[in-house]
Amino acid sequence: MNNLLELVKKSRSYRRFYESEAISDDLLKSWINLTRYTPSARNMQSLRYLLVNKIDKNEHLFELLAWAGYLEDWKGPEIGERPVAYIVVLNDESLSENYYCDDGIVSQTILLGATESGFGGCIVAAFNRPKMRALLQIEDKYKIVHIIALGKPKEEVIIDEVDETQNIRYWRDEKNRHHVPKRSLNDLIL
Ligand SMILES: Cc1cc2nc3c(=O)[nH]c(=O)nc-3n(C[C@H](O)[C@H](O)[C@H](O)COP(=O)(O)O)c2cc1C
Repeated sequence: MNNLLELVKKSRSYRRFYESEAISDDLLKSWINLTRYTPSARNMQSLRYLLVNKIDKNEHLFELLAWAGYLEDWKGPEIGERPVAYIVVLNDESLSENYYCDDGIVSQTILLGATESGFGGCIVAAFNRPKMRALLQIEDKYKIVHIIALGKPKEEVIIDEVDETQNIRYWRDEKNRHHVPKRSLNDLIL
């Protein structure tokens, strides 16, 4: 049980990476493989994945993403700290237009797999969808759900308790460590 708690705590949203540390196709596929064993509404398994881990595509894809809305002065990771791979999560609308919460389940599972392998990432839902569709030549029958940006984390993320101000905005301290406030167990259980 403790191992699971530690893995879940370590699996934070990371947005700065060692760009020299590549992620192979096989490793990406091993994380996708985990999703085959996750719950799926009506067991439809309508989600599909595009893998992007080549420098040229990475650069173009990166330009379409929006990072960390609460960090107003930070425009996203600099060159040298950018993701080295992306998993684009799609829904095959010809199977079902409703994937309920499958997208969250698979994405967290992928992130846990990445964390267990010594990598990490961030779900990114804020990006230019028409341009993404054009860049990756995604057929109309696939809805673009979100993207998981991945790499070897180059940042320290500290979990804080949400205090009496109830402020849940993440922030960076003077050492550029990323703080993410989490609500207490007492606040969650009614
Ligand atoms: C559905 C979803 C969409 C998200 N979209 C973005 C995004 O567009 N850009 C970004 O930088 N982070 C995004 N995030 C990451 C959240 O900001 C992050 O989960 C939150 O700050 C809590 O941090 P933690 O994941 O380390 O607990 C998204 C997370 C989720 C679950």
